[in-house]
Amino acid sequence: MEVSELSVGTWGLSGDAYGPVADAEVDRVIERALSVGVNIFDTADVYGRGDMERRLGKALEDRSWIHVVTKIGTDLEASPPRKTFDPRHLFTAYERSQERLKRDVIDILLLHNPSVQALGKTETVAFMKELKEKGKIRAWGVSAGNADQARAALRNGADVIELAYNLFMATDLEEVTADVIESGAGVLARSVLAHGLLAGQWSRDRDFYEGDHRLDRWTPAELRTRLKQLDALRPLLGGAVVSCRSLALRFVLANQQVSSAVLGPRSVGQLDQLVRESGMPPYLRDTVMADLTTRLKKAGVES
Ligand SMILES: NC(=O)c1ccc[n+]([C@@H]2O[C@H](COP(=O)([O-])OP(=O)(O)OC[C@H]3O[C@@H](n4cnc5c(N)ncnc54)[C@H](OP(=O)(O)O)[C@@H]3O)[C@@H](O)[C@H]2O)c1
Repeated sequence: MEVSELSVGTWGLSGDAYGPVADAEVDRVIERALSVGVNIFDTADVYGRGDMERRLGKALEDRSWIHVVTKIGTDLEASPPRKTFDPRHLFTAYERSQERLKRDVIDILLLHNPSVQALGKTETVAFMKELKEKGKIRAWGVSAGNADQARAALRNGADVIELAYNLFMATDLEEVTADVIESGAGVLARSVLAHGLLAGQWSRDRDFYEGDHRLDRWTPAELRTRLKQLDALRPLLGGAVVSCRSLALRFVLANQQVSSAVLGPRSVGQLDQLVRESGMPPYLRDTVMADLTTRLKKAGVES
């Protein structure tokens, strides 16, 4: 599968995590992404309770060459919703996703944040492999919450892993790089802006609305520390690296193990900025990369 270096994720567009986005804007973001050459979209059955899959299904109905990644493994009918990787649930979830996406074959089907124990269950992995063998999906994998989960996925033969990878959170991918190389798996790097923080536009007193997942992510003190750490990188801006956003995105793209950086734009304007500032290989000069590592260490970023 040949994928574009930039992919578009739909969590932020779903309204679940960062506040509402107008329906028309969701469609415009998908169309703009296609027009600038994005050929892979990331979604999950839970985003907007299936609505993001439905929207992608509609937008991509006559574009079978565009790749879609979706994730299953959450039972939304349970109260409260719970993770479940039981093959019976997975099969129903797969069928529902396939219908919403209007695809005979799903390009990449991921287990959505399974624990290492869940990945240890042979029937779960066997189910995903069987879907692939039967030609119902082209590749299977795991959206991992940490290095242990990613490693377990790779050692179980996953074709693809998705994990958070950014300037402030680089260790998970670094820890599994040897496994990625050995297995030849594809890597989808998400949260490249650390949920917006690394765009470098927030004030020290930035607060979030109720329902925005970032409200619970950092205490005000932690946020101020993170913003200070980001300030330590600002001297690296210059030339083509016009912003913190550009630096953050280039850092991810410069890693040769990354197959595609999953962007999280919530508007066409944000997507355009990201595309414009992503740059070209080698993305960051060796000297900048070395300086970056030193500065991150000095700023106390355990990355
Ligand atoms: N477990 C999983 O499988 C999992 C988890 C997380 C994400 N993902 C996938 O990865 C995608 C991206 O993840 P993420 O939301 O964590 O990504 P991210 O890129 O780290 O953060 C996205 C946020 O950054 C801000 N932003 C986006 N473009 C910007 C720009 N040009 N300038 C300034 N700020 C900008 C927006 O927030 P504001 O403008 O509101 O500040 C946006 O909601 C998701 O949509 C989803 O598909 C998967």
